[in-house]
Amino acid sequence: MKIRVLGAGAGGGFPQWNCNCHNCHRLRHQQMQGTARTQSSIAVSTDNRNWLLFNASPDIRAQLEAFPAIQPKDGIRDTGIKAIVLIDSQIDHTTGLLMLREGKPLDIYCTEMVKDDLTTGFPVFNMLSHYCSVNHHPLPIDGSSFTVPGIDDIRLYGQALKSKAPPYSPHRHDPHEGDNVGIIIEQISTGKKVFYSPGLGEIEAHVMDAMQAADCVMVDGTFWTDDEMVAQGISHKFARDIGHLPQSGTGGMIEVLDSLGKMGEKRKILIHINNTNPILDDASAERQILTEAGIEVAYDGMEIDL
Ligand code: MLT
Ligand code: MN
Ligand code: ZN
Repeated sequence: MKIRVLGAGAGGGFPQWNCNCHNCHRLRHQQMQGTARTQSSIAVSTDNRNWLLFNASPDIRAQLEAFPAIQPKDGIRDTGIKAIVLIDSQIDHTTGLLMLREGKPLDIYCTEMVKDDLTTGFPVFNMLSHYCSVNHHPLPIDGSSFTVPGIDDIRLYGQALKSKAPPYSPHRHDPHEGDNVGIIIEQISTGKKVFYSPGLGEIEAHVMDAMQAADCVMVDGTFWTDDEMVAQGISHKFARDIGHLPQSGTGGMIEVLDSLGKMGEKRKILIHINNTNPILDDASAERQILTEAGIEVAYDGMEIDL
């Protein structure tokens, strides 16, 4: 299977429109080694023609324009996007649905909790009913697999995660299973698996199992430290409070990824990187630590062949 990183940034992207942090400032002024990142999305295909989109980013228009394999091929209106999987109802993962309103009905796979948010607090599905309309398909989180018509040779498993529903969710302060999921994407004929989880607050046992079984993990790369935004005077929110495990420190993502085994056996990729994160600087000491640990940092346009 082929995985295309459409956007490797977290909410806000890099640089963020109103941000003058160390990274955003230096990127704008060509003072750092690094590249801009659009907001969080990947696409997966086994035939390079029919694509399963994971999340619909506010930057989707530019992401599709930068990727010929997903563009119209036949007829006056066409797309390579056969269906969409949503891992949560966050703005950075769902706003792009509105950009797809000119097309045919959208086949969207998401949990009942995510559908709830997208028909109440952020009623994108209701809005789209006046344009292309949405065919909602329940995304199971009971361990059963699902397949998507038109996406050959791929089987998917949703994993409920401990994270948070977004601020506009009616159950923001009352967490439910299915507010956030990680996804195991398996190619049936080869047995190769990717674990995709751009928002991981806690490594529960079933998440560890999924990461161990995967040939490639694409996991939460949002923050280097828990207090990253607080220390830079940007926000009062800590990484763990908003459902993101930081990379550094005890119990951090680097330790977790290290425990999965030696370099080379498994691809370990950080994705959904916030603009404050020092790993966006290719020449930073933090980036060097990742390189030595065999951990890659996703970038827009990155392609993984498994
Ligand atoms: C998150 O994952 O925490 C989001 O990117 C936050 C946001 O979009 O505002
Ligand atoms: Mn996000
Ligand atoms: Zn910034």
